[in-house]
Amino acid sequence: MAFPKGFLWGGATAANQYEGAWDVDGKGDSLCDHMRGGDVNTPRQIDETFDPEALYPSWEATDFYHHYEEDIALFAEMGWNVFRMSINWTRLFPTGEEAEPLAAGVEFYDKVFDCCRAHDIEPLVTLSHYEMPYALVDKYNGWASRACIDLFFTYAKFCLDRWHGKVKYWLTFNEVNTGMPFMNNVLSTSMVQHYTGTTANAPKDAGRCFNALHYQFLAGAKAVAYAHEHYADDVMMGNMTAFVTTYPLTCDPADLLANQARMRECNWYASDVQVRGAYPYYAERMWAEEGVEIDWQDGDRELLAAGCVDFFTFSYYMSNTVTTHDDGEEIAGNMSLGGKNPYLKASDWGWQIDPQGLRWTLNEIADRYNNIPMMVVENGFGAFDEVVVEDGVERIHDSYRSDYLKAHVADMQEAVNDGVNLIGYTWWGPIDVVSAGTGEMRKRYGFIYVDKHDDGTGDLHRARKDSFFEYQRLIKESRDA
Ligand code: BG6
Repeated sequence: MAFPKGFLWGGATAANQYEGAWDVDGKGDSLCDHMRGGDVNTPRQIDETFDPEALYPSWEATDFYHHYEEDIALFAEMGWNVFRMSINWTRLFPTGEEAEPLAAGVEFYDKVFDCCRAHDIEPLVTLSHYEMPYALVDKYNGWASRACIDLFFTYAKFCLDRWHGKVKYWLTFNEVNTGMPFMNNVLSTSMVQHYTGTTANAPKDAGRCFNALHYQFLAGAKAVAYAHEHYADDVMMGNMTAFVTTYPLTCDPADLLANQARMRECNWYASDVQVRGAYPYYAERMWAEEGVEIDWQDGDRELLAAGCVDFFTFSYYMSNTVTTHDDGEEIAGNMSLGGKNPYLKASDWGWQIDPQGLRWTLNEIADRYNNIPMMVVENGFGAFDEVVVEDGVERIHDSYRSDYLKAHVADMQEAVNDGVNLIGYTWWGPIDVVSAGTGEMRKRYGFIYVDKHDDGTGDLHRARKDSFFEYQRLIKESRDA
């Protein structure tokens, strides 16, 4: 069996990690522009005012802004028919409170979408990928304030009105569930609390986290409802969940229950609101146990119910385990911590490699949401790459990345054979970008190498890695099947 006809193959990026040109043509500074780089042991630092001696990786990133034509041509060469990217809110609304967007920002995204279309690539656009205008963080503590709902809606409405004819697939908030207090997402933490210091020490306030999520759910629902009302024939609106797949470490029933609680907290709570339009039945108890009061206002429930998404998207990188026994060893994961799994190997950053977990996860989502159309919008392998020059050509022999790709695609194929309604796959960071978690450049995911390094050096030239040709071959084979 093969992937369905018209299956979307491509890659995924985010403006703050890729676009660069952070202050060009009037763009305002985003939250991520205030973050320094770190590494696996050194947490990132958030600065309120910029230190002239410090490096801020998002400022230049890998400069999609000035390389978009070259990069999109490379994507087309691999055979893509979808490209996930995000719009940088501050390139359109520098402080988030302007009534009209910046013309230069609008023109930039016009050109990018036209370029995609010229290559028969469907843009898949995230409205907010871990970023918001820093001015809103400063003034309102970001999503700690209900005021951000309408400000986000002004931005989202502009994007939908302008680009609904060019962009069919839209996602509201990237990995919105990582704002849960149980997750390890420093970016979400800083979005709900105006905070400067190292990300490891950022305080977590459960009440703020749950309410900041409530406001994001309402803001997302408002955008979805608006799109359905005005552009139902043109667009499909999706959620984006960071899927943190966990297994009970043992068959002790207590571990089973602990794992169920983790899956609910990390994955289903946010997904249920966005797919079913209401909080899950166990939310009340969760809020009570966390001492949280949700700021319900008139119309909130109706708005959530009106904002159900058309398709389910998620990121999947790894899996972890959960146990109530104290012999479980803790290991890092995507915006999360969890237990070690003795059956799995891990990347150099401690993320456990589990392709079968992807098949399992796809089936779980299909079971819960009546086999809603699904896309895996992030999956990938962060690794150190070595450039060697052979016959005057730069080569990167990244078989580890190709192995990860092929294994995950094979298990996706199994899920499709199971009957899962999977419509697309976008590899994370198909061209090297800044790492969100550590701010590093050397944690590379790309099929395309970019000459950019952690000390800020590099001339930004691009080179095809071996995995570029593997992905190209895999896409072709899948279409020919
Ligand atoms: C996801 C994010 O959590 O994981 C991306 O949506 C991020 O922004 C990706 O880059 C990989 O994480 P990291 O920390 O290796 O960049």
